[in-house]
Amino acid sequence: MRKINIAIDGPSAAGKSSISSRLAAKYGYVHLDTGAMYRCLGLNALRSHVSDSDEDALCELLSKTDIVLYPDGRVFMNGEDVSKAIRTDEVSMLASNVSKWKNVRKEMVKRQQKMAEAKGFIMDGRDIGTVVLTDAEVKVFLTASAEARAMRRYLQNQKAGIEGHTLEELREEIEKRDAQDSGRANSPLKQAEDAVLVDSSNMTIEEVVDAISALVDRACAEETL
Ligand code: DC
Repeated sequence: MRKINIAIDGPSAAGKSSISSRLAAKYGYVHLDTGAMYRCLGLNALRSHVSDSDEDALCELLSKTDIVLYPDGRVFMNGEDVSKAIRTDEVSMLASNVSKWKNVRKEMVKRQQKMAEAKGFIMDGRDIGTVVLTDAEVKVFLTASAEARAMRRYLQNQKAGIEGHTLEELREEIEKRDAQDSGRANSPLKQAEDAVLVDSSNMTIEEVVDAISALVDRACAEETL
């Protein structure tokens, strides 16, 4: 069957990464988590004492930041496995802060488009359907209520043994990041006109995977005609 590209956008903690990796395993596609790239730059800025409000310095730092996303989900920055280090709350906010700059985005988009030159990719992020892969055959805007997303993050943290954040604090952090990602001037988070809205508030992971699979199967069948 001919391969296609799939774009999954949506707010933080909507389940984009877990859904995308399940879809990638199901179809034998490669999952690219673009948020991990902004997280790497946020982490590198923190370590290198570069301010997240200095666009030129961030671009200079990005030019020296090699980022490799492995199909198994591991993320390497300048040869170091930073898969865990990029997932802290501090780095989440820094990723959102560095992602608002036009020239940072320009370089990230260039790298992302190069990675997905062929077909067979599932890319998740905030601007995939609107900027990075505008010709993706399937575009999904995956969302859920702030309550549902905070609860999922809370349960994930509990499972991973991460303590220290109440449900209310997680919800506040999620809403703050959403407001920043949707309100920025450059490529704000928004649903592409041709994206299908999937609200997963009351759906299980399996139900979401099934709903998106139906879109993928239809698009693949159309490609083969
Ligand atoms: O998907 P995530 O939560 O790991 O993303 C971290 C931040 O990176 C998010 O708050 C906004 C930014 N981001 C972006 O601006 N564009 C993308 N395509 C992916 C992430």
